Amino acid sequence: MSRRSLAQILATIFVSGVAIAVAPTVIAEPEVARQTRTPTQTVEFLTNLGARTPNSSASEAALVYLRHAYEQVGYETEVQTFQFHNDRQGTARLTVGETELSGNVVLGSIVGQRLSKLVRVAGTGTRQDFVTADVAGAIAIVERNQTTSTELLIEHAEAAGAVGLVLVQYDFDWEFDWAGIWEESPAGETSIPVMVLTKKASETLEELLAESKQDGLIKTQSPWEMVQGKNLIARSPNAIVPRIVIGAHYDSVPRSPGANDNASGTAVVLELAERLQDHPLVDWVWFVAFDAEEVGLMGARALIASLPYQTTLQGMVNFDMVGKQDNLLVSGDPLMTDLAKETVPSISVMRDHGVSDHFAFKAKDIPVLMITRGLDTDWHLPTDTTVEPVLLEETVDAAEQIIQVLLQDLLLPE
Ligand code: BES
Ligand code: ZN
Repeated sequence: MSRRSLAQILATIFVSGVAIAVAPTVIAEPEVARQTRTPTQTVEFLTNLGARTPNSSASEAALVYLRHAYEQVGYETEVQTFQFHNDRQGTARLTVGETELSGNVVLGSIVGQRLSKLVRVAGTGTRQDFVTADVAGAIAIVERNQTTSTELLIEHAEAAGAVGLVLVQYDFDWEFDWAGIWEESPAGETSIPVMVLTKKASETLEELLAESKQDGLIKTQSPWEMVQGKNLIARSPNAIVPRIVIGAHYDSVPRSPGANDNASGTAVVLELAERLQDHPLVDWVWFVAFDAEEVGLMGARALIASLPYQTTLQGMVNFDMVGKQDNLLVSGDPLMTDLAKETVPSISVMRDHGVSDHFAFKAKDIPVLMITRGLDTDWHLPTDTTVEPVLLEETVDAAEQIIQVLLQDLLLPE
């Protein structure tokens, strides 16, 4: 059975919702099979799952795939679960026909969904504006404005019998200003779902409404919910404590399949694990696929928190976005970057390039090395679907050399 057909089987298992326990029996593959799995195939598998946000089915499928891949190579695996507060991706969605408009949930809004006709409320959203628009039983759409507070807009919508409220805005794009959405929100819980659209989504909605009377589906998800994340740790059966962590995040942002950010790094770490399997110092290395990087390095923080107070950890090597752009870049601890540059002279040394999991280790004074090729134009977009195979291979080759030297220098100093 080829690796591809394994991928297809796993995909089928997940799509059809059959229990995960089915997977191990399916993947009793012959020894030759694993030699056919290239980093590019791993990237393709992970990318085909779609956006791997924490606790999603795509994320779960990715975890099972990686777990079995590491186990086939001969490593032991551990899934480390952790809880975190999701205050960055408390998302709300308004679906109109085929179009999905994303926004954010207003603090205090109930979590829920309603399907109903969309009714635009004119003016500043006074009590009378809502009544005039006849929003009873409908999802009301009103512009967020300086005259009527969000709290009052909600009160007026509820009083007029709306079943949902969508706030639109044209003057300010808060997409990256998460605090802004909550400043004037109501204290208590609403009785209807209330969301606010980004500026771009507001404009799209306006176009859709101009076309004809439409139904919409409003769906809110609490920004304060606790979410479960899962790191995958792979290590030699003889390993006890880690002295070197080699990691990459496997989660992606919503709506992006994250081929380069960061199925690429995830695949490179897996391939390195395969190549270093017989290394005499491999017992000191933990290979980690981190979850929840995109929501604030949560997986990296959880791993660090789980280590003993006086950690034996002497270094962390992070791979993030290594499948596009020709030049290999490194940043981090000068000792580590010097070592990388000496070993692979074609590498460029940068100062703090890209915020990723290594920052969490750096904050705990653990020497870090970040290996990346930098941002590309598809970063965090639905179009992040491909990588260049040759660049993945080049990354693995360069990183293998660097890690060989690193293991030698850190673990067996003269
Ligand atoms: N892959 C990026 C980090 C990155 C950026 C690598 C530029 C190489 C070049 C990472 O997944 C990311 O998106 N980081 C966020 C911050 C994070 C804490 C949410 C960022 O850089 O904005
Ligand atoms: Zn990212």
